[in-house]
Amino acid sequence: MKSVADYIRTIPDFPHEGIMFRDVTTLFADPRGFRMAIDQMLHPYAGMRIDKVVGLEARGFIMGGAIAHQLSIGFVPIRKKGKLPGKTLSQDYKLEYGEATMEIHTDAIQPGEKVLVVDDLLATGGTAEAGIKLLEKLGAEIVSTSFIIDLPELGGRKRLEAMGMDVQALCA
Ligand code: PRP
Ligand code: ADE
Repeated sequence: MKSVADYIRTIPDFPHEGIMFRDVTTLFADPRGFRMAIDQMLHPYAGMRIDKVVGLEARGFIMGGAIAHQLSIGFVPIRKKGKLPGKTLSQDYKLEYGEATMEIHTDAIQPGEKVLVVDDLLATGGTAEAGIKLLEKLGAEIVSTSFIIDLPELGGRKRLEAMGMDVQALCA
């Protein structure tokens, strides 16, 4: 039987020379692969209280929406700068191949709400750390962070664990 990793392809030198880009579009396009990934991401949280799923732009929206639907809870996007129309908090960050700013609506999370942070891939952890900082500023309680892929050589897991985060990933 195929595993989640078998549905993911690696494309060299995208978006820059030297980057081995993990392309999850092939996983999302396959009905068995997509369901397997969502089911496996949900597994560690069975029976736990989660109030909201927070997805990191852009690929985190795809699993985040499916996970929130499955749990019958709300979904909150953390977006790249300039995309959210309401009042926002901003956080700058660095990633494997550039710099960016993430934003969240200030009224998206109530203090004390238990949230699950979702993205497709953990590399340096810069994106997830920016999201976590925004959520902490809003008073969220971060139950866990969940990824399809962890690239451990880039240090993201250690970085998030040093912040006291639980880190779950389906494959490396
Ligand atoms: C990718 C990926 C994660 C992030 C991981 O997104 O989807 O969000 O990089 O890298 P990091 O752990 O080093 O921060 P990208 O910034 O390419 O944006 P996109 O999803 O909008 O294409
Ligand atoms: N985001 C950061 N590094 C990445 C990689 N190697 N593949 C896909 N997305 C990424």
